[in-house]
Amino acid sequence: MIGYVAPKSQKQFARQQKRLGTLNDQVEETYSGHTIVKTYNREEAEIEKFVEQSAKLNESSWKAQFLTGIMMPLVSFARDLGYFGVAIVGGIGVANGTVSLGNVQAFIQYVNQFSQPVRQLANLANTIQVTIASCERVFEVLDEEPMKETESGLAPKENTDYKIEFENVEFGYGEDELLMTDFNLTVKEGEMIAVVGPTGAGKSTLINLLERFYDVKGGSIRYEGIDTRDIERDKLRSKFSMVLQDTWLFNGTIWENLKYGSHEENPSEEDILEAAEAAHVDDFVRRLPDGYDTVLNEEGTNISQGQRQLITIARAFLADPEVLILDEATSSVDTRTEILIQRAMGKLLENRTSFVVAHRLSTIRDADKIIVMNHGDVIETGNHEELMEQEGFYADLYNAQFQSTDEQLQGV
Ligand SMILES: Nc1ncnc2c1ncn2[C@@H]1O[C@H](COP(=O)(O)OP(=O)(O)OP(=O)(O)O)[C@@H](O)[C@H]1O
Ligand SMILES: [Mg+2]
Repeated sequence: MIGYVAPKSQKQFARQQKRLGTLNDQVEETYSGHTIVKTYNREEAEIEKFVEQSAKLNESSWKAQFLTGIMMPLVSFARDLGYFGVAIVGGIGVANGTVSLGNVQAFIQYVNQFSQPVRQLANLANTIQVTIASCERVFEVLDEEPMKETESGLAPKENTDYKIEFENVEFGYGEDELLMTDFNLTVKEGEMIAVVGPTGAGKSTLINLLERFYDVKGGSIRYEGIDTRDIERDKLRSKFSMVLQDTWLFNGTIWENLKYGSHEENPSEEDILEAAEAAHVDDFVRRLPDGYDTVLNEEGTNISQGQRQLITIARAFLADPEVLILDEATSSVDTRTEILIQRAMGKLLENRTSFVVAHRLSTIRDADKIIVMNHGDVIETGNHEELMEQEGFYADLYNAQFQSTDEQLQGV
């Protein structure tokens, strides 16, 4: 009986766990995006969706509980059948004089003794059902293969002039589609490389490859002559520090968030303050009632988006990396502050290799090398003057930023 009921209830338990997950996802999503839900007047629709998910969860929970609930009565019923059998057969035996009453009494006792552990097993089976159902979901995550450490099989280049070298790099996010087909770039120590190009050109992809968030499909990326696949990921990443397009701050004080960037266990107070001043974090933090002890909430809605960016920049400054990567790091900051940060960065970027992705071209005019990307490939390289002289894609982009919208649209 247990063998019959248990697999059925386990299926329901698995379904219950899955639906609980879906329901929780929906709750979290609508909770964190509640302002969007409200602006689009989607409250009713979201509530409806919740009720629907909730009803589904209710159904599978009910079935699962029902099936485990009937397990014990079933086992008791089996025991009672045993009593019944013993009573009938024993009764006939006693009437015929072939069995003594004492033996029947003893058998009834045996049935009870035998059924006791079976009942306990049935009880245990319930617990096991729930455990298995939960384990399945936990192991779905745990069994996920980590990114493999692959070896490039390429010999390191001795005495290379370049800090970073992209050689015929091929890459695509999907299985067959390639975004980059033959990407080449050389970067010398201390150079500031600006990456510009339209939305979706592959600028962030370039950064992802550099830090090995993804591995190349062909070609090679070398760091000081060694293929990055032959450098352990954590070693490689300790050389970079980056400020990403989407800011990430954790729930904690501003001070703790700044400290996070440092490789040292206990960075000195001066170092943190110096980084904060350079990134102009200090200016606005001093105006907060709690100063550096202001606790950032999880969504970071208690400071402005630009202020969040400034904190992430200060954090990267503090890390004092060999290579600094800024992907649209100042996109939410006003132009004046941006220029001030730029100046501060000037000091920081001296003798440091850096990649700066920017849409506002005025911020990258002084870069040693500007790469213009489109559809995953480099279409122009050079410094600002050279590119302006070419009157190509870059010159168009640059001029467009200083033209009126009408003029721009005429060119489209
Ligand atoms: N994780 C991903 N999975 C699949 N495709 C992706 C992924 N990330 C980016 N892409 C695709 O790769 C292309 C390049 O994206 P990328 O993020 O590098 O653009 P970008 O130049 O940084 O653009 P933006 O200026 O908007 O930041 C886009 O067409 C995008 O749809
Ligand atoms: Mg990007």
